[in-house]
Amino acid sequence: CVDPDLVVVGSGFFGLTVAERCAAELGLRVLVLERRHHLGGNAYSEREPETGVEVHKYGAHLFHTSNQKVWEYANRFTSFTGYQHRVFGKYQGQVYSLPMNLGLINQFFGKSHTPQEARELIASQASEIATEDATNLEEKAISLIGRPLYEAFIKGYTAKQWQTDPTKLSADIITRLPVRYTFENRWFNDTYEGLPTDGYTAWLTRMADHPNIEVRLETDFFSVAEQYKGRVPIVYTGPVDEYFDHCEGRLSWRTVDLEESIEDVDDFQGTGVVNYNDQDVPFTRIIEFKHFHPERVQTHLPGKTVIVHEYSRFAEEGDEPYYPVNTAEDREKLLKYRELAKQEQMVLFGGRLGTYQYLDMHMAIGSALSMFENKLKPHFTDGVALT
Ligand code: FAD
Ligand code: NA
Repeated sequence: CVDPDLVVVGSGFFGLTVAERCAAELGLRVLVLERRHHLGGNAYSEREPETGVEVHKYGAHLFHTSNQKVWEYANRFTSFTGYQHRVFGKYQGQVYSLPMNLGLINQFFGKSHTPQEARELIASQASEIATEDATNLEEKAISLIGRPLYEAFIKGYTAKQWQTDPTKLSADIITRLPVRYTFENRWFNDTYEGLPTDGYTAWLTRMADHPNIEVRLETDFFSVAEQYKGRVPIVYTGPVDEYFDHCEGRLSWRTVDLEESIEDVDDFQGTGVVNYNDQDVPFTRIIEFKHFHPERVQTHLPGKTVIVHEYSRFAEEGDEPYYPVNTAEDREKLLKYRELAKQEQMVLFGGRLGTYQYLDMHMAIGSALSMFENKLKPHFTDGVALT
């Protein structure tokens, strides 16, 4: 791509969806710039060479969607397994099936409840605080599910996620804490769910596999920006504050430290994800990747398994930004950055970093498809200005 029609900054799901649509449907020559040594953004995965187990290098990624368009689009590049996500949580030496459901309630309170009895129990425990009176996250949670479930399943986990005592966190962090009065323990409620049959990287690689798309790895946009700014339309999916040199201050993010290890057992925990709810256990979760692909058992080295301990903390300069903290100050800065972004000629901002929003993969793909239909296609086919 000596002379591209469009430059896309970032090769995550947002950037690759835009690149694929513009190349395949409009015949544009698209140059994708990626500063990492691989494409795929945070959904990137690779096989751990000794065990053959696929490891999601930036944290466990489970695909799910109720959006028919996104599902059909994704299926052009990959098929999906029948994997259904379930999560278990340890607390004081017991393991419970999450999310909070009738099975958990029965086990936790040591007796069987009908759905109606369980509803009444939790409602009476939640009546301790009225939701509208809650002044912090702890009070809000107690007002929704009562103190016993809060103390076991929310308090320690939340404190570790935010490195902050829940009485010091804003009540708005949670709007609801769903409790299921059934034994249903599927984690996602979406119509479609599964894992890409031959892995995330194969899926992402196929999206970029078009003669009109060039992905240039290990290339930071800011080192070549002057070549393209104002000359070629740009879709930028990097951090919005970084684009503007942090002139309005840094947006704050949480990151997760991922400690990967190979264990000399065939099966470490019997399932993909176990949350650790006790506050004195320093990590929040352990992921055991082989359980995401039980159908690959023949390709996994027996007697070994790959696990990852996750530790959550506030991101500092140089850390991977994972989840927006979204304090009142962040929201104020974001408004200023959005104003600057609007004024930036021929540049569209998208994706989770470019909009400072947590986006699931299906949301990133859906939002990129909308940007293509509503902005890029009208621009390239009818000359509508890019704003
Ligand atoms: P990214 O994937 O972050 O891609 C942005 C790319 O831009 C990166 O590759 C980056 O290197 C590149 N870049 C940035 N700045 C520059 C620059 N200056 N020059 C060149 N390149 C640049 N979603 C789900 O649906 N299910 C899950 O289970 C799930 N789990 C997640 C777990 C974690 C820990 C995290 C953080 C996210 C998870 N997600 C999950 C969300 C998923 O990762 C995102 O939806 C997806 O990454 C969004 O894609 P994106 O293209 O917007 O951003
Ligand atoms: Na209440």
